[in-house]
Amino acid sequence: MNASVIDGKQVAASVIDAVKSATAVLGVNGIKPGLAVVIVGDDPASHAYVASKSKMAEECGFLSIQHTLPQATTQAEIEALVTALNADAAIHGILVQLPLPNHLNSEPLIQSILPEKDVDGLNIVNAGKLASGDLEGGLISCTPAGAMVFVRQTHGEDLSGLNAVVIGRSNLFGKPMSALLLAANATVTTAHSRTKDLPTVCRNADILVVAVGRPEMVKADWVKPGATVIDIGINRVLAPEKGKGKTKLVGDVAFAEAAEVAGVITPVPGGVGPMTIAMLMANTVIAAHRTYGRTPPRFRGWIDE
Ligand code: GUN
Repeated sequence: MNASVIDGKQVAASVIDAVKSATAVLGVNGIKPGLAVVIVGDDPASHAYVASKSKMAEECGFLSIQHTLPQATTQAEIEALVTALNADAAIHGILVQLPLPNHLNSEPLIQSILPEKDVDGLNIVNAGKLASGDLEGGLISCTPAGAMVFVRQTHGEDLSGLNAVVIGRSNLFGKPMSALLLAANATVTTAHSRTKDLPTVCRNADILVVAVGRPEMVKADWVKPGATVIDIGINRVLAPEKGKGKTKLVGDVAFAEAAEVAGVITPVPGGVGPMTIAMLMANTVIAAHRTYGRTPPRFRGWIDE
């Protein structure tokens, strides 16, 4: 293997250390950051993610509240819950786990979360701040914020002259990721399922960020030699080599072969996943600081704040 492999758990641990310090600062005044996570239905993968978010919030010393609602929850019921959480002074961050069951309309619900409590960065106020280049005033979606920590560790703050390709254009990831790379002066292409000749587009990337949800779609010959490859995918696939009926997690990048070509690469699991949770904690403590008129620290994955 040529590439150096980013240890997401280690970088996430340094963010979590900084979150704990920032939590301790608030604790002097008897304030605890409060995070409410809302999950509807019984999708096992979503439940696993939410459980790790709630557990990490407790470990950080937060007030950690999880609302687990049945599949049959109505739009009015979940809207009432968000309204109550918006009004709850002990709650500084609200996360509604996506996707919601099909009968629920997620967009009006997400937009009803107060921008200052929107730790997913999905409210149009936060999305708009990011799109207009205000990186400090709002809240930024956790997974792109975490992926940017890896980019900065590899390339520094200024990506002038570098080509970045993001595959994926979701509001939760692709759009904010492209905006962050652009704000750091990269030349950004946002590719997606309708892009013509995706492999050729990818081979132009000094920084390739992949969020498509297709197991091992990106092959070695899509990767520019020496490129930084960041894999956002988490796909559960059958793993007959581990025994009958066993499964394993793989990313959207064919890791073993891509690592022969890339300069730096993130693994799955153990890459972006732990960083998403760490940046959620960071967003919650940022929101709590702002509530009390304090300037929050910046969470960049290394200790220089
Ligand atoms: N589902 C998968 N990732 C996320 C995330 O970052 N936030 C929310 N709300 N739902 C998700």
